[in-house]
Amino acid sequence: MRIDIITVLPELLVSPFEHSILKRAREKGLLEVNVVNLRDYSTFNHKQVDDYQFGGGAGMVMMVEPIFNCIQALKKDRTVDEVIYLTPDGERFNQKTANQLSLKNDLILLCGHYKGVDERVRQHLITREISIGDYVLSGGELAAAVLVDALGRLLPGVLNDETSALFDSFQDDLLAPPVYTRPASFNGWEVPDVLLSGHAAKIEDWRHEQALSKTLERRPDLLHEN
Ligand code: ADE
Repeated sequence: MRIDIITVLPELLVSPFEHSILKRAREKGLLEVNVVNLRDYSTFNHKQVDDYQFGGGAGMVMMVEPIFNCIQALKKDRTVDEVIYLTPDGERFNQKTANQLSLKNDLILLCGHYKGVDERVRQHLITREISIGDYVLSGGELAAAVLVDALGRLLPGVLNDETSALFDSFQDDLLAPPVYTRPASFNGWEVPDVLLSGHAAKIEDWRHEQALSKTLERRPDLLHEN
């Protein structure tokens, strides 16, 4: 999968993909992440990419032209599946969307800043708008990093059996059950007997019960979603 991220703050997106699972995905050639500096596509003085809003009002708006130039250049010689704008008023990101998008080959992500982008960008250049939650970040970069992380770990071959995404919270609309490791007893705090029993079916039942009761307690909305 190839993901290009268009941003005015490329420095913010250096580290997130250089560690752990995403690093491995890139090294294995399963994920290519290109961070693209929007200012490189500005034809204005001082590489300007934003301007005052028509009609007045506080806050700058990202201009259509540099974004158009950038997306056109990135689309040359390849087929892009989706051009996604990260914005707090987009559709709320969840595991289902992550699963869907992980099946695509080629994505462009556009990070918003200031007051957002000129509406014509959204009307003519963007195919999907995504929010990572009901709060406002100072830009789309961290949201883009969240998206890439959630997608990257779903790509076939990225996770091994041990870290399999199949057992993640949300993958079956349930939160994940509790996990324990050695020692079995610490400070008088005990690991549940069933996990030490070696009885695979009982362990599976216990995990399912735990997942269900945790979901019921913390996120009952997940159980009624479908
Ligand atoms: N940009 C600012 N806030 C955001 C959010 N919650 N999700 C996606 N992009 C954003």
